[in-house]
Amino acid sequence: MFINGKFVNAKSGKTFDVFDPATEQVIATCPAGEAADVAAAAAAAKAAFYGGWKATSAQERGRILFKIADRIRARRDELARIETLNSGKPIVESEYDMDDSAVCFEYYGGLATKINGEVIPVPTNAMVMAVKEPMGVAGQIIPWNYPLAMAAWKLGPAIAAGCTVVIKPAEQTPLSLLALAKDFEACGLPPGVINIVTGMGPECGAPIVAHPDIRKIAFTGSAEVGKLIMRSAADQLKRVSLELGGKSPNIFFADSDFEAAVDGALFGVFINQGEVCSAGSRVLVQQEIYKKFVDACAAKAKTIKVGPGIERETKMGPLVSAEQRDRVKGYLDIGKKEAKVAAGGGVPKGFSKGWYVEPTIFYDVDNGARIAQEEIFGPVMSVIPFKDEAHALEIANATPYGLAAAVWTRDIFKAFRVTRALEAGIVWVNHMQPTMLEAPWGGYKMSGFGRELGHWGVEEYLETKQIYINLDEAPIGWY
Ligand code: NAI
Ligand code: MG
Repeated sequence: MFINGKFVNAKSGKTFDVFDPATEQVIATCPAGEAADVAAAAAAAKAAFYGGWKATSAQERGRILFKIADRIRARRDELARIETLNSGKPIVESEYDMDDSAVCFEYYGGLATKINGEVIPVPTNAMVMAVKEPMGVAGQIIPWNYPLAMAAWKLGPAIAAGCTVVIKPAEQTPLSLLALAKDFEACGLPPGVINIVTGMGPECGAPIVAHPDIRKIAFTGSAEVGKLIMRSAADQLKRVSLELGGKSPNIFFADSDFEAAVDGALFGVFINQGEVCSAGSRVLVQQEIYKKFVDACAAKAKTIKVGPGIERETKMGPLVSAEQRDRVKGYLDIGKKEAKVAAGGGVPKGFSKGWYVEPTIFYDVDNGARIAQEEIFGPVMSVIPFKDEAHALEIANATPYGLAAAVWTRDIFKAFRVTRALEAGIVWVNHMQPTMLEAPWGGYKMSGFGRELGHWGVEEYLETKQIYINLDEAPIGWY
């Protein structure tokens, strides 16, 4: 772990194993942090906040973030390799994630000097201002699907805002963030500003939420844990932002460009092995093109190159853990009872090791089926036919989630109508998944609340203070 600028073990001495999902081999052991370690990290973060960080200039914070971005770029290949060995994802995707992480730090480096307050006109002889202040120590709990990128999405805005941080990577994928930590000091980050604790959710994540000196929790992960966090945070009325899962609809009208549509359906759900919060896992297809669309998707899915992420030609790696593979396999069994299989449906042949699952397409899926309602978080597409626009919208919004959605059509009027009617925090037209660091990211309904990225991201780490300066020299004159 990395606490107060030093790599340390857990106070208990306990460790846990970290695996390569392609070989099932242990590639590292990490300290299994618990409440005592979280307390040490929180103390370091609190001391750093009041001991100088709070008063650091925005320019200085910005420069540090630019340097972190530069270090990620300089170490891109090494960090991408670590990311792939630890998460299973294709190396090309890891390289993309490293670039994206660098851009994220850079974006917030630039934003640090643009966090402005406001002057408010009031009827009295006074100057009234709203100023922004850092919340203090932030707690950040990270998932395993985009390990460094999700950390960057949270660290960038927290540092730009002037907060200090206790961050916990997912127990499956702690290595890329730990690898980056050795550069923090060289980038000018004082000890204690970013503290990394490693460990399991209940033992190491829950104490972050419960710690009284941690003022805000930012979480990305399952809805189940999101609820636990909200309940626990309620005791201290702690600020919470939650980016939870989804069951996002990817809607294809008959007038969409057929080839682009097929490509977009596959990309929407199979990228990163389907371990994507915004995965387009419900593919809604208009009746006129339904049969042809299912056949074309199935034919193409069967050509996806599954293999170790570290091999450059791989397009789909293994899932992150044996647990996740078993969870997804469980849904494949459920799906075979609920719908028809167009492609995949099992474990690919030819691998003696590795937590692989075949890219799978179910069709004739009823939107009420479990494979249409529950987040699977693996390479599983559920195709659902629809009649017309109203029918598509009815199905699309019939989910407790509301993270993302996409609509494919050549009709700009229809595209706008559907875009506005979809209950989702992110809506793409004629694409699915491009994620812009400048634009807001987050969900409606049970996909959580709060927004990451762009200027919205930094707001989550700021308090707003009203300051009233009386300019009237006379006494109030009331008594
Ligand atoms: P999870 O929600 O349990 O884990 C995410 C993070 O939360 C990890 O760092 C974990 O250690 C931490 N955590 C777990 N329990 C905690 C607790 N009681 N208090 C504080 N922190 C805790 O996700 P898991 O179990 O790895 O995956 C289960 C499902 O969650 C997946 O199948 C997927 O559907 C969903 N998920 C969604 C993600 C997203 O990007 N929205 C990312 C990861 C998982
Ligand atoms: Mg869990």
